[in-house]
Amino acid sequence: MKGSLTVVGTGIRSVAQTTLESRASMEGADRLLYLVADPVTEAWLRQLNPTHESLADCYREDLKRIDSYHEMVARTLAYVRRGEHVCLAFYGHPGVFVYPSHKAVAEARAEGFDAVMLAGVSAEDCLFADLGIDPADHGCQSFEATDFLMRRRRFDPTSHLILWQIGVVGEIGYRPDQRFHRDGLAVLVEYLLESYPANHQVTVYEAAQYAVCDPIVDVCSLERLLDADVTAISTLYVPPRELGVSDPEMLQRLGLKQHTARRAS
Ligand SMILES: C[S@@+](CC[C@H](N)C(=O)[O-])C[C@H]1O[C@@H](n2cnc3c(N)ncnc32)[C@H](O)[C@@H]1O
Repeated sequence: MKGSLTVVGTGIRSVAQTTLESRASMEGADRLLYLVADPVTEAWLRQLNPTHESLADCYREDLKRIDSYHEMVARTLAYVRRGEHVCLAFYGHPGVFVYPSHKAVAEARAEGFDAVMLAGVSAEDCLFADLGIDPADHGCQSFEATDFLMRRRRFDPTSHLILWQIGVVGEIGYRPDQRFHRDGLAVLVEYLLESYPANHQVTVYEAAQYAVCDPIVDVCSLERLLDADVTAISTLYVPPRELGVSDPEMLQRLGLKQHTARRAS
């Protein structure tokens, strides 16, 4: 028997946001490996497939996050090489800010195994719904917060801006108590203040993990962001500073008039 790998996402809202194809893959796998964020989803996966195995123990205080990820990939590939049809499940979308999922697919394919990733519901998808934002208006840029600072990413402050992992800026390790220092967040605020006024209203967002809960939508001024309750699952939404201006030459080339060009879709 030749092994294979299917990588799936369970969504953000426990159980409710898992697609039908992802559920079928988890149920039918010879081996279900998972890394999820809440106990209800974990309990559900455990009753869905008796071969369940959590990868949470790959996170250890003595390891850098990247080493934990490589351990997850190695454990997954070991089962595929044994000839098993492996399903690897992550919370959210499995391909969004999940290094080991992409790495596992790439390594499995490089070794000649069938490997696919199925799309899931990410925190950003929930954000669009909960905050009522459409990326068609103004465009939307999305960055990992540490990468955003390290590379001084250039961005357009007239577009929507979404910053991931604002609770762990500059952190490369794992802390079981989830008590991360705030120095990195202070650097982020400083960098954003180069492009937005201090009173610019931003949102610290947490999508609800359970259907009975509301999302956390904490609106504050940029200068007060350090006072906000930022956790390891917070995402920052920064609205456009002002409307982008249409370029008259482009409007002419596209045969558009000023008033029709505001929204292209
Ligand atoms: C390792 S990434 C995982 C993202 C996940 N794969 C997804 O599809 O959304 C962790 C980051 O995702 C975002 N995130 C995770 N859960 C979230 C939630 N419930 N609400 C808002 N953002 C969340 C935060 O920015 C967090 O730091």
